[in-house]
Amino acid sequence: MSKLWGARFDKKSDSLADQFTFSISYDHRLARFDVVGSIAHAQMLAKQGIIPKSDAQKILAGLKKILIKIDLGDFKFDAKAEDIHTDIQNKLKELIGKPADKLHTARSRNDQIVLDMKLYCRWEMAEIITAITQLQKAVLGFATKNNDVIIPAYTHLQSAQVVLLAHHMLAYVEMLQRDKTRVLDCFCRNDAMPLGACALSGTSLKTDREYVARLLNFSRVANNSMDVVSDRDFIVELISVCAMIAGHLSRISEDLILWASKEFDLIDIDSSFCTGSSIMPHKKNPDVLELVRGSTAVVIGNLTQIHVLLKALPLTYNRDLQLDKPVLFDTIDKTKNMLLVVSKIFASLKVNKDKARLRVLDESFFTVDVMDYLVKKGVSYRDAHDILGRMVKECLDEGKSISSLTRLELKKFSVVFEEDVKKLFNPQMSVKIKSSLGSTNPDMVKKQLDYWNKKISI
Ligand code: ARG
Repeated sequence: MSKLWGARFDKKSDSLADQFTFSISYDHRLARFDVVGSIAHAQMLAKQGIIPKSDAQKILAGLKKILIKIDLGDFKFDAKAEDIHTDIQNKLKELIGKPADKLHTARSRNDQIVLDMKLYCRWEMAEIITAITQLQKAVLGFATKNNDVIIPAYTHLQSAQVVLLAHHMLAYVEMLQRDKTRVLDCFCRNDAMPLGACALSGTSLKTDREYVARLLNFSRVANNSMDVVSDRDFIVELISVCAMIAGHLSRISEDLILWASKEFDLIDIDSSFCTGSSIMPHKKNPDVLELVRGSTAVVIGNLTQIHVLLKALPLTYNRDLQLDKPVLFDTIDKTKNMLLVVSKIFASLKVNKDKARLRVLDESFFTVDVMDYLVKKGVSYRDAHDILGRMVKECLDEGKSISSLTRLELKKFSVVFEEDVKKLFNPQMSVKIKSSLGSTNPDMVKKQLDYWNKKISI
């Protein structure tokens, strides 16, 4: 089938050049958005009297038939078409004949492709928000089911203090919520309708861009025709948001991978999300989570790729911009799949409660609680730190536990110590005495769980 240009050329393009330049193999994913954009454009052309109403009716009927075929999966993409715009234009011509030639009036593929991409991004942003919400629900379900479990928490991957498992899970819920707001920010900033910029300078035809914006549910029209055909900020932003989401998923995966190891032994990942070893029959490997961590590298790489693609392009449209698509599609696919697979893992995740109970008995978890005890009795923070440091050292040197020190031994470190300090060497007590807002205090965590369970169920 014919290209959308060609009259100026005295020979056919080289077949290798065709292969090298054609984008139908990947931009066919934009088919639905291309047709939806064209329907709005045709309606505007008719309303403005730029094309006869009778031609517009034929164009609209043809486009609707094409749309139905696309939605049913019956649309046969033509691998010999240069891009999706060409394919749909050619199919429309096959269906309705000559009137199809009027559809491309007052637009160019340069503004058309930006419209397609913006419509695609809008669709995918909604999908991503839904997938994040689904993951938040799965994490909350896991947290709520295990809301009495206390686990070790780490800094520098060294045991630090104890926390409620639910508190740790709520940290994930918070970061995912920020990701959702990032998607929304990105949506609002890029909610400007591009069509009508034409090749780069606008048109002398009496178009009504605001009408097209209304038909396509954009809140405004893009201000500058040169900016809008060159702009791919919205793609960079969306990939950047996906890189942030992927980064969060990677950190969550890393926690789960560690916790599933024999050394931590805090959780059991359902075997349907693990694989075995071809040589070591005992192995149950968390490959799915490892691939979430690995896919994050690809998504972050994609962010670099899109930045490099754009960084030295002169205004306005350059064909380099065509290569934004594989990068964006790959990013979106990976991000959605990662969100979905991690949600499923949480839904079937089990806690090894007995192991967790044993793991939080180590009394070094409670040294900060003992420091707070001293501070409450008037000891300065610095002195309290020194006292606990000396106690830990002496106990380590002499192979004793702090909780087994006698009253007299305690007094040797500080006169303010009384027997009641021993109550602090207890994980339940350690979480209970936390009282600052946002802490792991069980009542506060319960409130947070209630808040999120209510918010996310809406
Ligand atoms: N396929 C191109 C892209 O993805 C859109 C077509 C614009 N091409 C052109 N030669 N003006 O960016």
